[in-house]
Amino acid sequence: MKKYSLEYFASCPMGLEELLSQEILAAGAKKAVQVRGGVQFEGEPEVALKVILHTRLASRVFKYLYTVDAIHEKDYYLEATEINWKELMNFEQTFRLTTVFGDLPRERDEFRNSQFVNLKLKDAIVDYFRHFDGTRPSVEKDFPDISFLARVERGSEKPYQITLMYDLCGDPLNQRGYRIAQTEAPVKENVAAGMLKLANWNPETEGLIDAMCGSGTFVIEAAMMAGNIPPSFLKVQKHLSNRGFKMWTFINYPWFTADRDLQEKFRKLIEEVVQMTDDGMKKLATMKGRIKGSDIDAYSVGVATDNVQKARMASLIPIEKKDALASVPNAEKTLFICNPPYGERLEHGEDERLRALYKGLGDHWKNHFKGHRAALFTGNLQMLKQVGLRASKKTILWNGDIECRLAQYDLY
Ligand SMILES: C[S@@+](CC[C@H](N)C(=O)[O-])C[C@H]1O[C@@H](n2cnc3c(N)ncnc32)[C@H](O)[C@@H]1O
Repeated sequence: MKKYSLEYFASCPMGLEELLSQEILAAGAKKAVQVRGGVQFEGEPEVALKVILHTRLASRVFKYLYTVDAIHEKDYYLEATEINWKELMNFEQTFRLTTVFGDLPRERDEFRNSQFVNLKLKDAIVDYFRHFDGTRPSVEKDFPDISFLARVERGSEKPYQITLMYDLCGDPLNQRGYRIAQTEAPVKENVAAGMLKLANWNPETEGLIDAMCGSGTFVIEAAMMAGNIPPSFLKVQKHLSNRGFKMWTFINYPWFTADRDLQEKFRKLIEEVVQMTDDGMKKLATMKGRIKGSDIDAYSVGVATDNVQKARMASLIPIEKKDALASVPNAEKTLFICNPPYGERLEHGEDERLRALYKGLGDHWKNHFKGHRAALFTGNLQMLKQVGLRASKKTILWNGDIECRLAQYDLY
């Protein structure tokens, strides 16, 4: 059995691992190793907290606790009762445990079912407390005090290993708190932030337009980047105004509650977020009109307007009802970023309409955005060809479980 102390894992949408590792090193990690769908890192506990508050790209941050070797799924129960669970939670706390299978051999009899491992692990926790305290902690599906993740993989010592982690976040970090309503097929907030970084958007030298803004994700993420406002700023605000409500699950964990020094460091990190938000909002006020959103659909315009307002940026980001093919550059250099519909509904005649839309975009850029840049995100590779322009760069990115492309164009 291996016990960890300063090791963490940040998960992210596939395709953003390299950019995430840069964010993590900037937060002060000693080491960051990219793996598929995330970054493993080492650092003092406050580095993990800093990542939670400042990452634009991670979905969640986990703290590694133990790795246990096993030959068969039945072995795990015994090994798990050896874990010092009292260090990880107390019996009055509710918990949730999720078991996932990583990369395992296809042909296997020994580990068949993640539900079975999950059950055995829960039994081990409950039996441990029953033995020491004569009472058992309860399982809670929706709002547990403690949230564990167990990951089953190929082992180094024995054929399998199970790694137990704390989920430090609770709600995913991409849920920033500004999306009070959403339109069909919104892009995830961290995927949108990742695209702005992949496109090397520089708010100091380039304006930004999302002319198919749907729920407004790109423009809000862009504004936070332009103002250097931490993406956690709304959660931090809620944390400060509502002390009873825990915005991140780590606040319940003995890892945090038993460490006064860490609590003090967290208080300072929170203060820093508040200061950066105030400074950032002031900076954004000087950049009015540099970031714009529009959409042809009145409902989407309403949703984006509500979300921009929730993000406290209503006076800074104009949202208009307009056809994308009527948009014009809003600065000397402009990045036109968009995520057109990509045929999620396959209604009669939609193919033709989409074809015309993608071709229309390419023509519009050629005629009205000379000297500017465009970036188009889509899950429909056939439609991408209709744009009819040569992309300077194409990047594979995943939005949820859909493989998509970000195509970038330099428009001469
Ligand atoms: C996939 S959604 C965009 C989602 C958005 N990125 C978000 O995160 O919520 C596509 C959007 O394109 C809009 N749209 C379709 N045709 C348009 C056109 N010709 N001009 C402007 N917007 C258009 C739709 O109304 C829809 O809101």
